[in-house]
Amino acid sequence: MHVRKVVVPVAGWGTRSLPATKNVPKEILPVFKKPAVQYIVEEAIQADLSDVVFVNHQNKTIIEDHFDYNLALESLLERTGKQDLLKQVRHVAEMVNIISVRQKKQLGLGHAVLCAKEVVKQEPFAAIVGDDLMFSPVPGIKQLLDVAESEQMAVVGVMPVSGSKVSNYGIIDAEEIAPHMYRVKDLQEKPTPERAASNLAITGRYILTPDVFEHLQELNTPDRKEEIQLTEALRAMARKDRLLAVRLWGMRFDIGNWVDYLTANIYFGLQDEEVRDDLVQRLQEILPCPE
Ligand code: UTP
Repeated sequence: MHVRKVVVPVAGWGTRSLPATKNVPKEILPVFKKPAVQYIVEEAIQADLSDVVFVNHQNKTIIEDHFDYNLALESLLERTGKQDLLKQVRHVAEMVNIISVRQKKQLGLGHAVLCAKEVVKQEPFAAIVGDDLMFSPVPGIKQLLDVAESEQMAVVGVMPVSGSKVSNYGIIDAEEIAPHMYRVKDLQEKPTPERAASNLAITGRYILTPDVFEHLQELNTPDRKEEIQLTEALRAMARKDRLLAVRLWGMRFDIGNWVDYLTANIYFGLQDEEVRDDLVQRLQEILPCPE
């Protein structure tokens, strides 16, 4: 199994992040010095994925623009001798091959992945949702790729969640077949804590085989009213015994959630030598003193 493409759906409305996302895409909101989506592209590059397929919406093309040249800015930086900044902005334009497809109606994550079918064709591919950041010594998507390549199967990334949080996620019903590797028997979409088959929640990282498109296509009927969830197609694959799950290691931030978004900013600020000491001091100033 050789995976070259990563599909990154970025076409959602981002309603949880309003009013910030009224005109600025959630995926472009800065996490410390970079737009959130740049971390995802960098993760893909670290995993040797050469083509990034954005599934996008007509009002959000600023996402592709970020990975393109900005000749006016470059010429200004050149004229003013800001070579270091010039190098940084050019690097973003040259880091990866970008392919863009449109999702004309926001019909859910499964529908967004289906929109990439004509570009992906009959190859296995990676998928990372555009608002889910992960950091670890081995990039999250690489942790999945290693298993997908050795087992020749589709793989979803999972992470444990506590108690009542299971009802915010897709949850796997699975059997552990090797340390931190599971054969998925079924999936549950946002179960109540009483009904949940495990505490392992699907995160926004996948290695998928092209048969996922057939399952998504079956769900994409003209009379369909509700969103097409990727979990539904994965369920069909699990029932055919064609799906594994791997427990991912690392720090994860859902930037559509304000607490995660703010924590991600602080996490990067604390890693930056120039900023760390002042940031700690400012945080101490605003944190209430313990009794
Ligand atoms: P979310 O589930 O966070 O949905 O999508 P959303 O619509 O962006 O945000 P909220 O829930 O209204 O705040 C996860 C990722 O999938 C993309 C989003 O852009 C986001 O990066 N997505 C979601 C699509 O590309 N298309 C869709 O129809 C839905």
